[in-house]
Amino acid sequence: MTSPSLSVRIGALELRNPVLTASGTYGLGHEFAEIADLGEIGGVVGKTVTMTERIGNPPPRTFETAGGMLNSIGLMNPGWDGFVADVLPKVRALPCPFILNVAGKSEDEFVELSRRSRGLRGVAALELNLSCPNVAGGLDFSKDTAAARRIVAQCVAASGLPLLAKLSPNVEDVVPIAVACQEGGASAVSLVNTYLGTAIDWRRRRTVFARGIAGLSGPAIKPMALLAVLRVARAVDVPVVGIGGIASATDVLEYLVAGATAVQVGTACFLDPCAPVRIAQDLRALLAREGVADVHELIGAAHPGGGGAQK
Ligand code: SIN
Repeated sequence: MTSPSLSVRIGALELRNPVLTASGTYGLGHEFAEIADLGEIGGVVGKTVTMTERIGNPPPRTFETAGGMLNSIGLMNPGWDGFVADVLPKVRALPCPFILNVAGKSEDEFVELSRRSRGLRGVAALELNLSCPNVAGGLDFSKDTAAARRIVAQCVAASGLPLLAKLSPNVEDVVPIAVACQEGGASAVSLVNTYLGTAIDWRRRRTVFARGIAGLSGPAIKPMALLAVLRVARAVDVPVVGIGGIASATDVLEYLVAGATAVQVGTACFLDPCAPVRIAQDLRALLAREGVADVHELIGAAHPGGGGAQK
């Protein structure tokens, strides 16, 4: 059995395999380096970094649901200065590429964070979080095609890095937003962030979360996220990074056949921090067993003329 080729590209960034961690589910990566062999995965996408420190939303911040999880974290993070002083030296030691996820409160903040990321050793690519449902205005940037195109174009120019735009499913149609990001020069679009949901504490006669709404992730959203990937992959030429309920190598292959070039493992990391490593190893073994020599044979295979295409 020969070892299949798993490497994929996102713009100038080459990944040893298509398995990434999803932002917000794996800290800033270095926290897990002692228990999981991160040299086995394609890369780590860090928790969103904002311009200034955020303490996040009041607890509770997570809630288990049937087949999934709700979260209302509120972008808790050390802010740019804390990231550079305390976290960056540690992520530089990771044995895989680190993708920095950033969010601004305004277009100017997105651009400034991108400018600061330019040439930063240890940052292989940038993911713009255009889609956080848990902070005021967090969804504004992924609802408006003109704003998404403009922000992406400015951030590409400011950062000089491969840039992924992370999109929300909580919009009328994610396809034109993805197309706008491509027009703005994004190297890839990541989809989807969480679906809006809530949980009720009937004894207290109130919602579980202080903000009322939260974001749903995990296996419960996989069929909807797969559909979003299928539809977007049909409409754009840049790589699509699939996110939503990925917990096994089979899940990864479903996303790849739907048109994703890479995937992000999120909620599964809460159950097992080694899940991304296990999934990447299982993916290699499964493709070898199936006689697939190169993962590109499967990418987009569900589309007419698909499979074998190198995006
Ligand atoms: C959060 O920090 O509230 C989650 C981040 C996100 O959904 O983008």
